[in-house]
Amino acid sequence: MSQPLITLDFLDKAPTAEALPADVRVSAPTRTGGGRKLYIESYGCQMNFSDSEIVSSILAAEGFDTTDDLAGADLVLLNTCSIREKAEQTVRMRLKQINSHKKRKPDMLVGVLGCMAERLKSKFLEEEKIVDLVVGPDAYRDLPQLISRVDGGQKAVNVLLSREETYADITPVRLNSNGVTAFISIMRGCDNMCSFCVVPFTRGRERSRDAHSIVREASELFASGYKEVTLLGQNVDSYKWASEDGQERVNFAQLLERVALVSPGLRVRFSTSHPKDITDEVLHTMARHENICKYIHLPAQSGNSRVLELMNRTYDRPWYEERVQAIRRILGEDCAISTDMIAGFCSETEAEHQDTLSLIDFAQYDMGYNFFYSERPGTLAARKLADDIPLETKKRRLQEIIDRQQLHARARYARMVGRVHKVLVENTSKRSQEHLSGRNSQNQVVIFPKQNFVKGDYVNVFVTSTTGGALLGEAV
Ligand code: SAH
Ligand code: SF4
Ligand code: F3S
Repeated sequence: MSQPLITLDFLDKAPTAEALPADVRVSAPTRTGGGRKLYIESYGCQMNFSDSEIVSSILAAEGFDTTDDLAGADLVLLNTCSIREKAEQTVRMRLKQINSHKKRKPDMLVGVLGCMAERLKSKFLEEEKIVDLVVGPDAYRDLPQLISRVDGGQKAVNVLLSREETYADITPVRLNSNGVTAFISIMRGCDNMCSFCVVPFTRGRERSRDAHSIVREASELFASGYKEVTLLGQNVDSYKWASEDGQERVNFAQLLERVALVSPGLRVRFSTSHPKDITDEVLHTMARHENICKYIHLPAQSGNSRVLELMNRTYDRPWYEERVQAIRRILGEDCAISTDMIAGFCSETEAEHQDTLSLIDFAQYDMGYNFFYSERPGTLAARKLADDIPLETKKRRLQEIIDRQQLHARARYARMVGRVHKVLVENTSKRSQEHLSGRNSQNQVVIFPKQNFVKGDYVNVFVTSTTGGALLGEAV
């Protein structure tokens, strides 16, 4: 599975002819103006989903309508992920399927966007003959120009990274939207250089978007009926913006507060928090505003200090434990915490793996996105460390991490039974037309009988039971 920064509900995903992995997003039809048809598939994290909305907006201005029908598309774009080898293999396989569509419709243009485009650059054109266009994450404004070059019979590549680009002025076309929840990118890139990670190479230097444009986007979303925004960045706690004259400075806690003040009726989420950067100021800001959701994605990666050092995470286990304690102290036991863990990183011993399991017990995570280590070319680890844990061992350790994590997730769901939760309704339940599905502040899914409630309502639900992965109850 590729990595979401937070959980997503794909109830609104458009149907496609081929079976796609559950976490791939397909552009929904947005307009029917008779223009050229653009089909976008997005892999990887929410940054990519959010970027696809920016790409759709840039191309809408050029007369492209988005579609969910691959076979009928004039332009097919894959917004790709490089985080693990498997993510890249999935895209390669998909290009083969797209090739068969292109055979039937030879004027179909095929482009690769996102992290794989950035990593492989023009090599893509040599390796995948059907690709006409390769565009990196900071070059989307150049798409119209690149497409016209492809229209003229050439291939086109732009993978320049930027120190400034934040697409602050572009209003995203909300693809796959349930009309209730939306993403807002608040920063791009990453300067952290974790030794296993390809993101600093594919997304470039960290930069923060103008705070006013973020608050404006949140206000406009609320005015058009949205009830929840998720502020996105690889490392939101290092958000830092200053006005040109340097008079106004905004850190993440202050930005969070400004967005929370848009309206008490607008829920605010954010992802991802780096354990080295999350401050008490952020936690106190969360405590002050009921509408800032009590859920923190705080990836640990490992529970062992030696491994964390090799990973270049810049914190050790005691530091991480102290941050968890700060969350519990300031926000209470109810605040949900989730993690990402990597199983079988270079030279990890059995005892060090046990430390990861014991950290899971310590933090009692509500959710975990866990993977076994996949070496990425060009990263610090690939250059300096041996990928020496056998695949079988990696897989076994991963399974132990998943099993341990699920014990805690189930317990965290169970402790919510017998209480009233404020739920934001997002959709009809997947299983029953008579039920609605939404989430509580902690990001847990809550399902209850529909009555007269509709999408976008806040409903107080008394929870009577849990399936272990969702809460079931009735409106009070
Ligand atoms: N910026 C976020 C993580 C973004 S990448 C953070 O620092 O927490 C999402 C997750 O993918 C990471 O948290 C990590 O657990 C996983 N990941 C990244 N590179 C990986 C690799 N080479 N092998 C396996 N998992 C990896
Ligand atoms: Fe990758 Fe580390 Fe940056 Fe996260 S903080 S994106 S894991 S380099
Ligand atoms: Fe996201 Fe994958 Fe790139 S996780 S930042 S799309 S490598």
